[in-house]
Amino acid sequence: MELKNDTLLRALLRQPVDRTPVWIMRQAGRYLPEYLKTRAEAGSFMDLCQTPELACEVTLQPLRRFDLDAAIIFSDILTIPDVMGLKLYFVAGEGPKFENPIRSADDIRKLPSPDVNESLGYVMDAISLTRRELDGKVPLIGFSGSPWTLATYMVEGGSSRTFSRTKKLIYQEPEMAHELLGKLANTVTDYLNAQIESGAQAVQIFDTWGGALSAKAYQDFSLQYMAQIVSGLKRENEGRRVPVILFSKGCNTQLEALANTGCDALGVDWTISLNEARARVGERVALQGNLDPAILLADEKVIHREVNETLNSFGQGNGHVFNLGHGITPDVDPDNLTALINAVWELSPSFHS
Ligand code: CP3
Repeated sequence: MELKNDTLLRALLRQPVDRTPVWIMRQAGRYLPEYLKTRAEAGSFMDLCQTPELACEVTLQPLRRFDLDAAIIFSDILTIPDVMGLKLYFVAGEGPKFENPIRSADDIRKLPSPDVNESLGYVMDAISLTRRELDGKVPLIGFSGSPWTLATYMVEGGSSRTFSRTKKLIYQEPEMAHELLGKLANTVTDYLNAQIESGAQAVQIFDTWGGALSAKAYQDFSLQYMAQIVSGLKRENEGRRVPVILFSKGCNTQLEALANTGCDALGVDWTISLNEARARVGERVALQGNLDPAILLADEKVIHREVNETLNSFGQGNGHVFNLGHGITPDVDPDNLTALINAVWELSPSFHS
């Protein structure tokens, strides 16, 4: 099946494009009334994730509204710990929780290595179905959490502000932390390779909590494992390169190290200018980002100005994918996202002449 719009894949590989491609982290989600309706019909968030037809439907919803250059498969990073036996559930207003969080070295030793094609077969089915429905319109992105970010949820038992338990583990019992992270790295590698074989045309690793670590601990407990995953991924499928994007939030001091992992692109949050990030990574990787998601709370005029500012900051030439610096928030008016995407379409061609 021919890919009609390969702008995203080309930009991720720093190949020439006519305009800057755009997709949005968490583009399917609670800011869309149609998402809330489908979730209500499904019964729960987990039912949405585990029913391929519904996961496909919510993946496609943002593409019906917006001129996006990619779809991202609807799922969650916490499906991996769920199938490792931790049992994920959601409490309204409190975010994700695990019935069986990791509480001892023994819990880590006993963690199974799941057969991802079997236990996460619903994700692979959602990917194949979505590829069929997309019919080559835009590429489909697959994703996973980083081992470190997954470990924080597994050890804390849910979201955390301080990561006290996980940090205690890495400092007090580093060998157990490495056993956990090593198991996760192997499972994430299998999981992303299975997604690629099911039809994901690019993959992103979300290292949402990398920024909680010191520079040294980041190298040992997050970066190392992402580099291991990158080197274990299948990089070509259907006769095309499958680009790998690393998004380590709050880790701008680590851009050079991230660029040296062998990935194709880096997601960048809004705390650094793209101009500086580009100067630091040079020709090694493409950059994805990095508008502050809160700009979508302002009006159309502000959004237009800030999109221009972001495009200008990256400057002339190839290797930029427009995105936010983190996920879109539930309080955004979808019309403001239309304004953002229209501004990228209008303003970006002049950066590629
Ligand atoms: O980008 C997309 O559109 C694809 C879908 C996607 C979801 N989660 C759906 C979701 C993706 C890529 C994720 C990744 C994810 N999940 C991350 C990393 C990305 C990031 O934003 O940093 C993390 C840390 C999680 C874990 C997670 N899942 C949390 C903390 C929550 C609660 C979030 C909140 O804001 O309350 C979830 C639930 C979740 N995952 C929702 C969605 C749409 C909301 C659930 C709902 O509908 O009630």
